[in-house]
Amino acid sequence: MATNTNAASLDESPIPEPVHKQQKQTIDPYNVSGEVGEDGIVKAIDYNKLVDEFGTKKIDDELLARFERVTGKRPHHFLRRGIVFSHRDFELILDRYERGEPFFLYTGRGPSSDSVHVGHTIPFEFTKWLQDTFDVPLIIMLTDDEKYLFSEKRTIEEVQGYCTSNSKDIIAIGFDPAKTFIFSDFDYVGGAFYRNIVRLSKHITLNQARAIFGFNESSNIGRIHFGSIQGATSWASSFPHIFGEDETKTVGIPALIPCAIDQDPADFRMTRDVSARLKYKGKPYAKPSLIHSLFLPALQGPGTKMSASIDESAIFMKDTPNQIKNKINKYAFSGGKVSVEEHRSLGGDTSVDVAFQYLRFFLEDDEELERIKGEYERGEMLTGELKAICIRELQTYVAAFQERRAKVSDEIVKEFMATRPLKWGGNPRATIV
Ligand code: TRP
Repeated sequence: MATNTNAASLDESPIPEPVHKQQKQTIDPYNVSGEVGEDGIVKAIDYNKLVDEFGTKKIDDELLARFERVTGKRPHHFLRRGIVFSHRDFELILDRYERGEPFFLYTGRGPSSDSVHVGHTIPFEFTKWLQDTFDVPLIIMLTDDEKYLFSEKRTIEEVQGYCTSNSKDIIAIGFDPAKTFIFSDFDYVGGAFYRNIVRLSKHITLNQARAIFGFNESSNIGRIHFGSIQGATSWASSFPHIFGEDETKTVGIPALIPCAIDQDPADFRMTRDVSARLKYKGKPYAKPSLIHSLFLPALQGPGTKMSASIDESAIFMKDTPNQIKNKINKYAFSGGKVSVEEHRSLGGDTSVDVAFQYLRFFLEDDEELERIKGEYERGEMLTGELKAICIRELQTYVAAFQERRAKVSDEIVKEFMATRPLKWGGNPRATIV
């Protein structure tokens, strides 16, 4: 790729102006809202528009067919159903997998509270599946520093406490300890990682950071710098205990970053641009690849995502079966008609119905999902019946999670967070170290 020196445009496409007006669709690491119509109603998030604006690529049938050929595995239902819907250079990762060349997975979480909800677990579920499929190392970043810098109230002690509890939630998804390194920024920054953070920060101007994040003169300088920490995690040479000390070899190992689409504009477009300009002893830095998921809608409808600070918006991983039932029945936005008669004759709208949307995420059986869709759209199934199916699926999902979570001890957290070599087989580590 040609080196891009234009301050306002860091990657393949121009970075959109930060949007402050509530009317327009706003998606960035710190805001998620669909367009607000003249009637004041928030519309569903338009993901196609996002792909155009961000300059990412849609995941199409051809890419999925190639994925299946290369890995011998049927694409996950998130891929089949367009829940994981967009990417940057995912095909380069498939090329490497095919040739047996190394790469790794990187994802993260901002430990902002103890309240993990089903929307948070989506990218992690998918990441686990990618880890099982590719058999490569996985790095999970906990941005405790970010959650301190971007909040007026939280203390350092608080965010560090959330790191431990959030790690337990993440581990409960089922990651393999031999192949997974979880770290907190407060604990791991230093050495090779810090060198990369500083390298990255040297190549980002204040103008660029402002264009991407919308900072102003009153923004604290920690926030302005933070992107270089999240970005430097995309470089394998930040982890010598995993990939080895020889940076001439590790700079070329790319990350594949599964994340929700809101994380794209910030650190990773920025990091991809800097990677294209940087060399270590003549060896170019590998650009990270990304694979994006859409958001699990809030109970109130498809215009926004679940929020950890709004209890009625989300199903939490700590919720009891009864709480799940009550929340879905009381709050889940329905695409059904106002009266039974009208519903029977006109049918429901699954594209906005939150209970149906949740089933797309949590009900794995394609035939069953199609059957429900048909019956609901033809008016044969009523909202109450659809909600009952959704409640059952979510109760099963959350209960299984709680059972695994109860077994994750402090010792296990320490094991995942220890700076140690990892063991994996998919891509021969012998070629790296
Ligand atoms: N900034 C993210 C958050 O607030 C956490 C994060 C760090 C992340 N690195 C990531 C998320 C990589 C996805 C992929 O949640």
